[in-house]
Amino acid sequence: MSDFDFDQLIDRSQSSSEKWLKYAGTDILPMWVADTDFVSPPAVVNALQARVAEGVFGYTATPERLNQVFIDRMQRMYGWTVNAQELVWLPGLVSGLNLATRACCEPNQSVVTATPIYPPFMSAPKLSERELIRVPMTEAHPNSLIDFTALETAITANTRLLLFCNPHNPGGAVYSPEALEQLAKIIVKHDLLVCSDEIHCDLILEPELQHTPLASLNLEIARRTITLMAPSKTWNIAGLACSVAIIQDPDLRARFARVRRGIVPSVNLLGFTAAEAAYRDGDRWNAEQLKYLKGNRDYLVEMINSIPGLSMAANQATYLAWIDATDTQLEHPQAFFEAAGVGLSDGKDFGAPGWVRLNFGCPRSRLEEAVRRMKNAIAK
Ligand SMILES: Cc1ncc(COP(=O)(O)O)c(C=O)c1O
Repeated sequence: MSDFDFDQLIDRSQSSSEKWLKYAGTDILPMWVADTDFVSPPAVVNALQARVAEGVFGYTATPERLNQVFIDRMQRMYGWTVNAQELVWLPGLVSGLNLATRACCEPNQSVVTATPIYPPFMSAPKLSERELIRVPMTEAHPNSLIDFTALETAITANTRLLLFCNPHNPGGAVYSPEALEQLAKIIVKHDLLVCSDEIHCDLILEPELQHTPLASLNLEIARRTITLMAPSKTWNIAGLACSVAIIQDPDLRARFARVRRGIVPSVNLLGFTAAEAAYRDGDRWNAEQLKYLKGNRDYLVEMINSIPGLSMAANQATYLAWIDATDTQLEHPQAFFEAAGVGLSDGKDFGAPGWVRLNFGCPRSRLEEAVRRMKNAIAK
């Protein structure tokens, strides 16, 4: 029995929730953008209330306590030694992907990434007018991993940056230390830099699996890596916009700072407050959340795979199910399910037409209703 109530149905229709506003005034269940419908841990809510009670909200520097909590966490969880000057706090991870692209790559150089992938990995090179090379994920792994052979074949003399996602979104694959070692060798061999988006690292659903930060492998890969992490997905504080880039190489950090200057502001004080509380006091709550999400995932895997034309592998991490609807022969599965009352993300945006992504970070009863609607729609 959990101390925390993940079954509670919260009315988010009046709080300008991006997820819920999209379908305001309709009967469509929003299961697209990646936040959850859970209340954040009491430790986070209490810390925010205490900060708000002070009533003074002026310009705010990074709290030293937050740096220390984060440094201790990296050491405790991964045996990874980082220090405060290597931490660059940012108001968003997508900003981090875009800054990394500009900091690492000259306009005539190319960026490589593995698709299907979270759409900003594909738009970041485009926005900075750098060439994008897409490499397919391998089918051999149930959740798909980068196809290392295809990656090596795709890299050219002009390629400078790999945009990497671990755990992977969509699909929720967790890279093993061995796979990361293999990837690190390719990065070093081809003299690449890498931006490793590890935003979902605290959302591993299988107790026997562990996250390994790519940069924690060895110093050679650490000096080539910009690691991106955030408490936003795990503790449901995306609206507070706080994330961090860990950049251990001083030159790379200076390049990143140069492209950021005057454009990307600092994190807001409530974001810092929530991040500190989440990283310091949020793990017991998250352990309960992970059990709940795993239950949702197991239910979904069973149900989706029983619907004709749909299939999914069990994600190892994240609350984002990646569903293959190509066998339904539907021209536009996302629109089809939306018309049936379930608002999913369109796989086309991730580079995989015919697929849909379903956010199961919600009370079980809502998930059951979504599945019922999807099943009925296909049956018709
Ligand atoms: C892999 C990945 N990176 C980044 C983000 C978004 O980060 P932010 O909201 O901090 O820009 C998401 C959100 O879904 C994500 O899945």
